[in-house]
Amino acid sequence: MRMGKVKHKIAVISGKGGVGKTLVTVNLAATLAHEKGAGKVGLLDADIHGPCVPKMLGLKGSKLESGLPGIFPVYSEGGIKVVSMAFLLPNDDSPIIWRGPIKMGAIKQLLSEVAWGELDYLLVDLPPGTGDEPLTVLQLLPETDGVVIVTIPSEVSGDVVRKAVTFARMLNVPILGIVENMAGLVCPHCGEAIEVFMGGVGRRVAKDMGVPFLGSIPLDPGISGDSDCGKPFIEEHSDSAAAKAFREIVKKIIEVVEK
Ligand SMILES: Nc1ncnc2c1ncn2[C@@H]1O[C@H](COP(=O)(O)OP(=O)(O)O)[C@@H](O)[C@H]1O
Ligand SMILES: [Mg+2]
Repeated sequence: MRMGKVKHKIAVISGKGGVGKTLVTVNLAATLAHEKGAGKVGLLDADIHGPCVPKMLGLKGSKLESGLPGIFPVYSEGGIKVVSMAFLLPNDDSPIIWRGPIKMGAIKQLLSEVAWGELDYLLVDLPPGTGDEPLTVLQLLPETDGVVIVTIPSEVSGDVVRKAVTFARMLNVPILGIVENMAGLVCPHCGEAIEVFMGGVGRRVAKDMGVPFLGSIPLDPGISGDSDCGKPFIEEHSDSAAAKAFREIVKKIIEVVEK
């Protein structure tokens, strides 16, 4: 079993798309890699149709290679071991047009044949919602430590996140907690926070549904700039409020998962 030496496995899910799930996964991985050391954190990008992890980690154009031990992950600059469907595509503009069973086969293969080596953490980034891919990953990922659920502070996203909580419960996967992303925008001129969305939705859904609230990450133009340039935000702006929020969230996750 090639995941035999992977100590902890965490999947990141959401109700809706575009809430920053991939950005959160990449920065959680970068924060964990900081804690645990280079080569100790893996990231599997299981978003078959819209894989964005390579772009956010500056790994576009990388290709997967394999050998006797299995498929080798690609190393990011910060020492994260990465595997993405994007590494199998001929170019950036090629879509994957597969029906369910083929997609499930591909996910199965990635879950079983990557030679991750010794990892403290493997994070899995999933497409939004509760469809085929999240279902397959959560059913096949052996001994998942839990899911992190990402939402934005809007009622629209909050409503769908409740479904994601119920989905994880139905699959008997522990819920590590909810992360609220894009929570407030700090004005670069006056320093005052503008609530772009309603605010507080993540915390409220967590309370209503009886799951932990892990923390809020502010909207920050620097975040999207960094991720567009392929650099994890927490490394480029380690003193920012968002980077601090990521460190707090990782602290909470480690406390629960390693206890
Ligand atoms: N807190 C934030 N501040 C600024 N931009 C963000 C923030 N979170 C995400 N983004 C940007 O929003 C876009 C969508 O995020 P992404 O992680 O791809 O969403 P998802 O994976 O949920 O579809 C990306 O361009 C990302 O860089
Ligand atoms: Mg994504």
